[in-house]
Parts: sequence; C-alpha cells; structure tokens
Amino acid sequence: MSKHYDVGIVGGGIIGQSIAYQLAKEGVSVLVLERDKGGSGATSAAAGMLGANSELEQNDAFFQFAKESQRQYHHLQDELLDLSQIHIQLVDKGMYKVAKTLEEVMSLKQAVHHHESLEWHTKETVLINEPYVSNEIEGALHIPEDGHVSPIHVCKAFTKSASLLGATFIENAPVHSIQKTSVNDYVLCTPQGDFTCNKVVVANGVWSGYFFKQLGLPNGMKPVKGECLAVKSNTLHLEKTIFYDHCYIVPKGDGRFVIGATMVEDDWSTTPSLGGIQALIEKITPLMPSISSAQLVSTWAGLRPQSEDGKPYIGLHPEDDNILFATGHYRNGILLAPQTGTMIRDFILKRKIDENYVRAFSITRNLTQSVR
Ligand code: FAD
Ligand code: GLY
Repeated sequence: MSKHYDVGIVGGGIIGQSIAYQLAKEGVSVLVLERDKGGSGATSAAAGMLGANSELEQNDAFFQFAKESQRQYHHLQDELLDLSQIHIQLVDKGMYKVAKTLEEVMSLKQAVHHHESLEWHTKETVLINEPYVSNEIEGALHIPEDGHVSPIHVCKAFTKSASLLGATFIENAPVHSIQKTSVNDYVLCTPQGDFTCNKVVVANGVWSGYFFKQLGLPNGMKPVKGECLAVKSNTLHLEKTIFYDHCYIVPKGDGRFVIGATMVEDDWSTTPSLGGIQALIEKITPLMPSISSAQLVSTWAGLRPQSEDGKPYIGLHPEDDNILFATGHYRNGILLAPQTGTMIRDFILKRKIDENYVRAFSITRNLTQSVR
C-alpha cells in the first residue's frame, strides 16, 4: 500500500515549493509531485524581480498582499540560508521606472502621491546614479523597495529546506488525475504510481487549467509567453533594475544583465523566436545604448500563467475544502510565492486569513462577476 500524506501538491515550481516549505515547517506531512524537474516551468524563466510597486498599479488587496510577500523575502533569505545553505541572491538596490515622454512623466509622477517611499528623480539625478542609462530619457520613478532574487535558487532553497523538514519531493511524476476515494481521501495518479493524501493543492502553473476542468470548475488559465536574453560585459555597470513599458534590464549578482521580456499570448512553445529577441533588443537598447557591445550569454522563454483577470487563484474549491488552488500568478509568481505559501498553509491549518485576500483571490470571483 502506498504511503499516505496529509497534503499532496501538484507542481514543483516556486509556488508548490513555497507551500511545501510552509507546511513542512508546521509538521504537516507533504508530498510534492513534479512532472519534470523542480523549477523547470515558468520559475526558471523569470527575471526574479520583486516588483510590487513597478508591476501593480492600484493600491488594493492584491498590492497589499504583494508588499507583504516582498517583505517576507528579507527574513526568508536568512531562514532558507540557515536551513539549506542556499543563497537566494536577494539584491535590494531598487529600481528605476523610466519615462521617455512628458506623458509618461505625468503618469509616473502620480505614483509618488500614492506611495511615500517612491521619489521622482530628474534625468540629471538618474544619470549621476546610473551613468550608463541613455540621456534621451526624461527622468525616472525611483522605487527603492523593488529588488530581485534568483528564482531558481529560491525554488531550490524551498525544496531543500522542506525536504530537511520531512517533505517528500518526487520528480518526473506527472499527475494525470486527481480522484476521490470512498473514504474521502484523494489519489494522485502518476506513471510512478498512485499517492494518497487528505488534501490536494493544485499548483502547476499554466497547466492547471486541466485540473480546474477535471474538478468541475470553468476557470481557465492562458499562457503568456515571455522571451528573455542575458548578456555580460566588463565595461557596463548598473546598480538598479531599469524598467520601461513592461521591459527591463536586471543587473544580476553574477555579472549577467537579464533583459526581458516579451508578452506573446496563447503561445505554448518555450523556444524563443528570433523576432521576439529582436523586438526586445530594439526596445532596450535606446535605454542603455552601450549594452549593444555586451556579449550574448543565453536566450530562453517561459509561460506565464494568466487567469481571466490576471490575478492568482489562491483558495478553496467552492464545493470541497480538501481541494485547494494556488495558481495564475502571471507576471509576479516570484514576488508572490512567500505570501502564497503562508496563505495556503493558513487555509489548511484553519488559521485566520485576511478576508480581503480571501475575496481577492477566491476561485469563484470571476464566476460571480460573469453571472452578474
Ligand atoms: P511554474 O514555475 O510553471 O511551475 C509549475 C510546475 O508544475 C512546473 O514545474 C511543471 O513542470 C509542473 N507541472 C505541470 N503539470 C504537472 C502535472 N500534471 N503534474 C505534476 N507537475 C506538473 N515573476 C516575478 O515575480 N518576477 C519576475 O521578474 C518575473 N519574470 C518573469 C519573466 C518571464 C520571461 C516569465 C515567463 C515569467 C516571469 N515571472 C516573474 C512570472 C513567474 O515566473 C511565474 O508567475 C511563476 O514562476 C509561477 O510559478 P508556478 O510555480 O505557479 O509555475
Ligand atoms: N514580471 C516580469 C515578467 O513577467 O516579464
């Protein structure tokens, strides 16, 4: 007979692993089943920005959730290092969100009124702080709190820490179906065998649409492909991430500059296209002209999981408290992973959760909207 677990998690990306870590810390017996290698989905494609202020424009529950998650990284960094000896490479030097037109200046300056940590920097100030940025800009919003991490290191640190705390992680184990037994357990069926558990968390990113359907829900998940490239240079220097119109240059601690990313809807392929990489270079070079002399290190692509309204689903199946979803993190799964882990842990341990978060990420929110 197969071993029985309290919780079975489908998907070993950063979201599944963050949940496994939080549950293992509480002594819950957890199994993570991963189709390929841990972190091999969108997680390994991400630039790793913790872009609460740069990516989210409204001061709503989603933004508050993102800010809490961003803050969690500061203590997670030490906690995960102590346990796993893996450094998540948190770089906390902030970001410049650049304006190239007066219209963009006006729109970015609005944000200064909403968030007290943000400051408007004139072109002159930007160029003193970042001499390699083009003088063709009008200025930039300085966002001190939007740093970055290495997504794959975070994912590995969660995995190793969770394993040390007793979690089981099985790779090359695609879950084909989730079946309820006569004693109200669940069986997760994989080519490596069947695994039983009390509760199931569906956390398999863009591929979760299949399980919404299998579990009787109409929610959808669409891929938004993102293509990236990385370059190296001994003569260029950036302290902060440079962000412009959904694209960015992230100076990584290992000397690489990660440049991303395109937004290609409804494309399931994970190979970067020449046109995509070309478009990215054309968009980024005017922001930092000398980057064109840098050496190309690599190109890659990944699939962002996008729900109907672009917000994640984090919560309970409307008719079965033993099935939970943590998916649809779209452009911000790295940022949101810590707080998603604690929210799912709190659902499972029946702890108090902020009602605003429960509503904002509920599985049924789009269903209610479409009925109205
Ligand atoms: P994934 O990482 O895709 O993990 C899902 C896992 O489930 C995969 O490993 C997959 O193999 C597995 N799986 C699938 N089906 C099954 C099955 N049936 N059984 C078992 N396992 C299964 N976010 C940020 O916060 N900051 C950024 O800077 C950032 N940059 C990005 C740049 C790009 C180019 C892209 C594409 C995304 C970026 N993101 C960023 C978004 C972020 O990568 C995602 O939101 C996040 O990785 C989602 O994590 P996940 O664990 O839900 O999904
Ligand atoms: N958050 C950056 C991206 O999705 O490209």
